[in-house]
Amino acid sequence: MMVLGFTGGALGGHLGGWRHRDSFPTTTMQLQCMIEMAQIAERGGIDMMFLADGNGVRQMDRPELFAANSPSDRPAVFEPVTLFAAVAQHTKNIGLVATTTTTYEEPFSIARKFASLDHLSAGRAGWNLVTTQYVEDSKNFGRDEHMGRVDRYERAQESLDVVRALWDSWATDAFLQDKSTGRYLDPSRVRTIDHRGTHFSVKGPLNVARTPQGQPVVFMAGQSEAGKELAAYGGEGLFGTASSKAQAQAEYADIKGRMPKYGRPPAALKILPALSVFVGRTEAEADALFGELQRLISPTLAVNYLSKLVGFDVTGADLEGPMPQSPGESVGGTAIGRSVLDMATREGLSVRRTYERVLPSMGGNTVKGDPVQVADMMEDWYASKACDGFMLSMPVQPRSLRDFVELVVPELRRRGLRPPEYLGPTLRDNMGLAPPTDPFLAS
Ligand SMILES: Cc1cc2nc3c(=O)[nH]c(=O)nc-3n(C[C@H](O)[C@H](O)[C@H](O)COP(=O)(O)O)c2cc1C
Repeated sequence: MMVLGFTGGALGGHLGGWRHRDSFPTTTMQLQCMIEMAQIAERGGIDMMFLADGNGVRQMDRPELFAANSPSDRPAVFEPVTLFAAVAQHTKNIGLVATTTTTYEEPFSIARKFASLDHLSAGRAGWNLVTTQYVEDSKNFGRDEHMGRVDRYERAQESLDVVRALWDSWATDAFLQDKSTGRYLDPSRVRTIDHRGTHFSVKGPLNVARTPQGQPVVFMAGQSEAGKELAAYGGEGLFGTASSKAQAQAEYADIKGRMPKYGRPPAALKILPALSVFVGRTEAEADALFGELQRLISPTLAVNYLSKLVGFDVTGADLEGPMPQSPGESVGGTAIGRSVLDMATREGLSVRRTYERVLPSMGGNTVKGDPVQVADMMEDWYASKACDGFMLSMPVQPRSLRDFVELVVPELRRRGLRPPEYLGPTLRDNMGLAPPTDPFLAS
């Protein structure tokens, strides 16, 4: 079954989305917007709501971009795990996938908060493990410089191992709560982890009981060599940045091909490329929305955004001249930027054409048309082993999400690509992932 998630930012996924008349009137610190989106998605049986995250306020050195607030910059947002604890109380089925960095947080705290969220949501928690894309985040955590990629990923892998070991601290049946005998728990059904590694020393056990899913689902989004390897080693969901079907197919084969050496079947990881959906009842309606949104962005703002995305300054370049190539690899995120530059080279795009292509999707892939055209594209990618599903980005919230649920979901169901209702109560059930074994029951 095709897996579907959506990016839950209330600003929408298009740089001009929040200014559109059909967007939320205000979004800053509005719990109600988040609940409304989760409930709309749940009506359409969407598997998960995903929230990206970071810890630095970005773009303060680019006043135009800072003032316009691009959807990925998040100058004022809820901490996602806390937020999802609230959203969980207003929803029943949708998975809640929050981002937390292994570079600046300790594995014990990560294990604890996601285990709590899994309990609070009755088995719907997912952790998007990132190593932090934005280099300025370091300055909020007592470090002058962002850790280099090799160290970040080494730390990430160790963190992941520790988090999972902590999630396995308690047996499912450890808490007896027997009033007659006075035994609250069974001391033989818990263990410390006594981890001593390069980056962390953690005794354990975790002070949260084994969770409804056994372990929350682990997502990743890294696209570098180290990122792909870590996804093959331990990811269960992977967000991609491929900008063409051929590129998505190559990445799909590459990453799945790395899994057997870790003893993992390829089906244990669901690869979900980002997809911006511009859908209308007719193709003309989708075109109209697309045009309206593109007109909400000035060329100056567009070039500023493009510079941010590719990781070097494009301002001042001739808009009609060829898109410049990267002067070198940056320390932070480069995957989306690389994908944009590859596309510009492949298709011989000018600076203007590049940003016109990039802005609708903010760097990922775009589909535009009526429900059949949108479903055709999604089915084609899915059937051609370019993906296991999609991480949907909605240009205008809540309109685009509602349109997707009302127009595209029925078409996907008609084709048998999506189930008529949720397959089970947990995120694992809905993603078709096997539950992890409780090591106490296995031995
Ligand atoms: C769909 C998607 C969502 C992402 N969300 C975040 C995020 O919330 N926080 C973050 O620091 N990085 C995020 N990233 C960036 C990745 O974690 C990663 O750092 C980036 O793709 C560069 O890959 P690399 O770290 O393997 O070089 C996201 C990437 C993608 C494709």
